[in-house]
Amino acid sequence: MYSKITGTGGYLPAKVLTNFDLEKIVDTSHDWILSRSGIMQRHIADASEAASDLALHASRRALEAAGISAQDIDLIIVATTTPDQIFPSTACILQDKLGNKSAVAFDVQAVCSGFIYALNTADLFIRSGQARNALVVGTEVLSRILDWTDRTTCVLFGDGAGAVVLQRSDTPGILSAKLHADGSQRGMLAAKGSIRNGSIQGNPFISMDGQGVFKFAVKVLSEVVEEVLMENKMTHADIDWLVPHQANLRIMEATAKKLNLSLDKVVITVAKHGNTSAASIPLALDTAVRDGRIKAGQHVLCEAVGGGFTWGAILIKW
Ligand code: UT7
Repeated sequence: MYSKITGTGGYLPAKVLTNFDLEKIVDTSHDWILSRSGIMQRHIADASEAASDLALHASRRALEAAGISAQDIDLIIVATTTPDQIFPSTACILQDKLGNKSAVAFDVQAVCSGFIYALNTADLFIRSGQARNALVVGTEVLSRILDWTDRTTCVLFGDGAGAVVLQRSDTPGILSAKLHADGSQRGMLAAKGSIRNGSIQGNPFISMDGQGVFKFAVKVLSEVVEEVLMENKMTHADIDWLVPHQANLRIMEATAKKLNLSLDKVVITVAKHGNTSAASIPLALDTAVRDGRIKAGQHVLCEAVGGGFTWGAILIKW
């Protein structure tokens, strides 16, 4: 028994914040942001929109593409670092907004690797026979946990959601996945604040050792891609599309170079989306499916690294 992605969907909030807009907020420049990260603009959620609202739009589009209804879904996994509330989970809120009453629903917290963790989990649910039709969503309103006076972080992130429908199949879809974590590196990228007795303790905004993250990311991403390829007795030449977490163009370029992979085979959306954490891979998948780049039968390799640290890769036969 296998699982296969049968529909994708994405949603970006209407408000666009360009690098030129950011020049008016912090001491930065369009050229600095573009040359260091490849980002030109990002979308920012309206005050009325929560992560579950972005997820709802993306999910409806994925369900429509798969040709099934919300009632058919028996598993909902939401990857997010910016949940609507402390609890219940954003997945339960999404289930209610979709009008579904029967799906198992829970969140996965693995920051930027969240979608890879969630997709791997959904695949295991389906292959074990515990689910038939899964909705796997990455959704983020990172703008809410950015310090808009800190130019080293606020220029890099954006809001958005991406979703896939994963269904039981007789033919292979998800071929294999590798996940990793190293909690000893958790200080390098974090929002360290916590809520105690009704007030926030510590810094609730994203803080990051940019250069540390950069070096760590390039090292582990190429390693985990090699690991997945080796397990499937495949080489780089067998990859039709690399769909990386869209953190930074230079990380994607460095990883592609290490893997000896032409940038023509890498799906890149960071210029328009910024870093949308758990939403970036499903948004990139949806972009490349809808513009006709990703086609049935092709091998697609997704990889991500994020706070925790967590990292992983997943190989898909589309
Ligand atoms: O999902 C994972 C998320 N995180 C990442 O992907 C981040 C990975 N790291 C990076 O992409 C890069 O390290 C950054 C884009 C964050 C920074 O680029 P960098 O080339 O490592 O720059 P830097 O931190 O070494 O800073 C160089 C200079 C500094 O000024 P001085 O000390 O040389 O005078 C910074 O203060 O750039 C300055 N700077 C800025 N200047 C204009 C830092 N942020 C900005 C800014 N605008 N927004």
